[in-house]
Amino acid sequence: MSDALPNTGPLRHFLQFRDFSAEEIQYVLDRARLIKDKFKRYEPHHTLHDRNLAMVFEKASTRTRVSFEAGMYQLGGAVIHITTGDSQLGRAEPIEDTARVISRMVDLVMIRTFEQSRIERFASHSRVPVINGLTNEYHPCQILADIFTFKEHRGTIRGKTVAWIGDGNNMAYTWLQAAELLGFTLHISTPEGYGLDPARTGEPGPDILKTFANPHDACDGADLVTTDVWTSMGYEDENEVRRKAFADWCVDPAMMAKAKPDALFMHCLPAHRGEEVTADVIDGPQSVVWDEAENRLHVQKALMEFLLLGRVDGKG
Ligand code: CP
Ligand code: NVA
Repeated sequence: MSDALPNTGPLRHFLQFRDFSAEEIQYVLDRARLIKDKFKRYEPHHTLHDRNLAMVFEKASTRTRVSFEAGMYQLGGAVIHITTGDSQLGRAEPIEDTARVISRMVDLVMIRTFEQSRIERFASHSRVPVINGLTNEYHPCQILADIFTFKEHRGTIRGKTVAWIGDGNNMAYTWLQAAELLGFTLHISTPEGYGLDPARTGEPGPDILKTFANPHDACDGADLVTTDVWTSMGYEDENEVRRKAFADWCVDPAMMAKAKPDALFMHCLPAHRGEEVTADVIDGPQSVVWDEAENRLHVQKALMEFLLLGRVDGKG
């Protein structure tokens, strides 16, 4: 491992959004702004020179893979990519042993997997920081990018209203953590049986979480309307049942018309036009989905830098 810029702080992971304080999230977002601006000016930013990132994918990916891989190279480091199928994970090597071995060889690990308990088991046996690149329960890197994107277009998200339309999935739970941490209101509308589980959410106050049976009501007065696929990875067996249950949870121009006139539309992608969103919304003027995807690159560079170096304010 490089000894150029040792991290003297305690070992930190980013397994869910609330692993960071509001102030740490703000620091990472500010740092992402600087990193993005330098990137746009073609200025090198090699703060992780000689550092290695291992990426472990147990589910498919386009954005997460490309943004972490490109990002680490742009920071001066290198990347190792493994999947379940091409590693001993697919032949039942315990995740704890995998963590012990990989974390002796690299500086940082990103994992996309199934249960949150699996990434937690990995992290608790890792010598290096671990980043959640999506689990069944959470997708914190995506929400980091989404909040950065909102700030870029509309300023602070504090006090604003975000409408979540569709499945009570990993994205929805992460939006809720962000609302609690950063002080905005989440309106959520899901088909019956697909809502957030109170055993997991606790009882957030109405200034944080409001649930609506009708998705149009959830959009009322929103600053941001967002949705996701009806069937997340790992739940494909439920596809046909979900297509029927979610038929009225398609973000269309009528829903967008209920939101504020300057409301944004976001989707973490991949999207299914004609299912969770109509083509005229996702490809329309209120949609910022391509900025949202690009910003994965910039926020994750800031995140990796923070986990490995701590605060480097004033050091370019
Ligand atoms: N939004 C997102 O995480 O995309 P991928 O599944 O392509 O990584
Ligand atoms: N909720 C989706 C997000 C994909 C990026 C899934 O977990 O498949």
